[in-house]
Amino acid sequence: MIKIAPSILSADFAAMGKAVSALKGWGADWVHLDVMDGHFVPNITFGPAMVKALRDKSDLTFDAHLMVSEPQRWIEPFHDAGANCLTFHVEAETHIHRALQKVRSLGMKAGVVLNPATPLSACEWVLEDCDLVLLMSVNPGFGGQKFIPQVAEKIARLREMMEKRNPACLIEVDGGVNPETARLCREAGADVLVAGNSVFSAPDPASMIQTLKGL
Ligand code: DX5
Ligand code: ZN
Repeated sequence: MIKIAPSILSADFAAMGKAVSALKGWGADWVHLDVMDGHFVPNITFGPAMVKALRDKSDLTFDAHLMVSEPQRWIEPFHDAGANCLTFHVEAETHIHRALQKVRSLGMKAGVVLNPATPLSACEWVLEDCDLVLLMSVNPGFGGQKFIPQVAEKIARLREMMEKRNPACLIEVDGGVNPETARLCREAGADVLVAGNSVFSAPDPASMIQTLKGL
């Protein structure tokens, strides 16, 4: 069964605790935390202090997506804040293998993120060291953008690559996920779908989450 990870980037920043508390009741599986530094991406969101403050609002998996330069500096702070899963961009890190080892050594699920134009070969030789790979289906920085259609084929190719190297590795897709694009992602072999706008702007978020799961 596919997992849905609502991104709190689309929630009300003045009522974040309430938003995170509601997610389990809506049928969400993970809480997606979009961390932006205003340097790697042209936007700033929040850091470990926010994650720490939200930790006791939900027992769902906290999935931290670091859109920051020099991500290795931030692995420990996000672990200490309560992240269960940590992904960083291959475009932002020179020592990808080392960073993945560091994430795993702290007991978190580890993953790399690929921007839409970054080829799959960028993660091929570290697939054994990943618990998940996050494919961006928009350019990172903002919620509410349009899904880039080529990513459906990219998901299917990554699935093939993983069959050989690490079949247990999860594929997460992030950006522009709505009922229609969620179906494309599910058919291509995705395991986790991030959804910001479609969930938080839905009149009934719980039924939107069911729809994104294909139920
Ligand atoms: C983009 C973020 C995404 C984004 C998803 O930089 O990584 O998680 O918030 O939002 P939607 O679903 O609205 O595209
Ligand atoms: Zn994200």
